[in-house]
Amino acid sequence: MADAHAERVKGIFSQIARKYDVFNALSSFGIYRSWLRRVAQAAACTGDDRVLDVAGGTGDVAFALCDACPPASIELTDFTPEMLDVAGERIASGAGRGVACALNVVDAHQLPYADGSFTVVTCAYGLRNFSQRRRAMAEAARVLAPGGRYVVLEFGTPPNALWRALYRFYLAHMIPFVGGLVTGDRSGFEYLRDSIQAFPPQEVVAGELREAGFSQVAYENLTGGIVAVYTAVR
Ligand SMILES: C[S@@+](CC[C@H](N)C(=O)[O-])C[C@H]1O[C@@H](n2cnc3c(N)ncnc32)[C@H](O)[C@@H]1O
Repeated sequence: MADAHAERVKGIFSQIARKYDVFNALSSFGIYRSWLRRVAQAAACTGDDRVLDVAGGTGDVAFALCDACPPASIELTDFTPEMLDVAGERIASGAGRGVACALNVVDAHQLPYADGSFTVVTCAYGLRNFSQRRRAMAEAARVLAPGGRYVVLEFGTPPNALWRALYRFYLAHMIPFVGGLVTGDRSGFEYLRDSIQAFPPQEVVAGELREAGFSQVAYENLTGGIVAVYTAVR
């Protein structure tokens, strides 16, 4: 049976691919760059690491790793080819700093890799878009070698009530507005807003990671919990 949710998500990202980076920068007031640096710190790659970036989009996480802690190789994957096209153009313009980056169209729910193929798996803003989040987590666990790290960046629930209220107001009104302004496609950003609002709080996600077979699960709230970086060990 066709996965209607997945088709919708793919349709949205194929439409907004060329404007995605501008939207990210504007909607986060540029703060997303510091969040990416924190992801790279958490991944702490060395020249021996083989990285899989799931739902890698236009390559932000992969390129942040290449800048901060270059691994041996990165498999940069996404199920929307148009997002990977932008990543490819960024590589052609010098992003990736010569690290071996392979771009492949891959569904997070069904990773076409053997068990234990990678030492690091990253996933930024992917989990909340997946039809089956737990299955995607289990797939990440499967393709990680024992001791491998799973690093996830995702929107969170700010613990402070006032900050949470301000953030929710911003989400409800500004995300579709800025998205519509940048891309002309307001409805795609209404989906993005709704997916952020529907995503469970950090403790719940951490519990799901444990159930997926990860140990040493931890998370760090950034910008007061607007996003969280999760780390987990296979
Ligand atoms: C918000 S973007 C994040 C892209 C990138 N990780 C970043 O940090 O900018 C979400 C990405 O998830 C991808 N995606 C959604 N569902 C997916 C799935 N089932 N398998 C692979 N990629 C998926 C979309 O195509 C999109 O590129």
